Amino acid sequence: MDVVIARERELGEIVADEIATLIDARPDAVLGLATGSSPLRIYDAVAQRVRDGELTLARARGFMLDEYVGLPPGHPCRYSTVIDEDFVSRVDFAPGAVRGPDGDAADLTRACADYEDSIREAGGVDLQILGIGTDGHIAFNEPGSSLASRTRVKTLTAQTRTDNARFFGGDIDAVPYHCLTQGLGTIMDARHIMLVATGDAKAEAVAHLVEGPVSARWPATILQHHPRVSVLVDDAAASRL
Ligand code: GLP
Repeated sequence: MDVVIARERELGEIVADEIATLIDARPDAVLGLATGSSPLRIYDAVAQRVRDGELTLARARGFMLDEYVGLPPGHPCRYSTVIDEDFVSRVDFAPGAVRGPDGDAADLTRACADYEDSIREAGGVDLQILGIGTDGHIAFNEPGSSLASRTRVKTLTAQTRTDNARFFGGDIDAVPYHCLTQGLGTIMDARHIMLVATGDAKAEAVAHLVEGPVSARWPATILQHHPRVSVLVDDAAASRL
């Protein structure tokens, strides 16, 4: 596990550099995309390079980590809408090249299995971008998640619903109770993982991630077993290391 401490803006450029190197070698590479505030600098940096003609994602594909249950297509808080606004619409992916688990499907178990199949059929994720929750979750793998889990339905913790209420206009009652999420085992299959965390609120989770024992209590700690992980943090998020 590499730990890089830098300013938030530089962290975005570091990951964008890695994406550019990957796409240069494999234009049809598969990117793993995270929602949330942590990856926004990365998406800004990549979008800038695409606008400048330095990089094209025209042959690349993307898979999202997770999705709320019960938000219909087009809902402003649905992660597929959010990733579209934050990233996909700003770059040059081919139509349909970015997929996410369907949290509005009639058969959610089936939707999870189909999603696992689609990642496998694409050849797996080459570079996975990750954030981390204040309770140590990655994607929506909340504390207690099986370290070998695959894409499935999960119940969100009160902490995560509180943390994410800001995206729902501060109204916690509007935050769904359930989600579909790639499992920890699914995420561990990615060939390279870059996790970004900034701010004081992430310091405890980052300390467990990097220095704690591997435990389902802090799900991100499973990344200690991955052969190629970069943890990119600012001073505040690194303050308890
Ligand atoms: C959310 C998402 C995660 C994200 C994390 C941190 O609940 N499901 O994928 O990494 O929480 O979010 P943020 O980057 O906004 O702090």
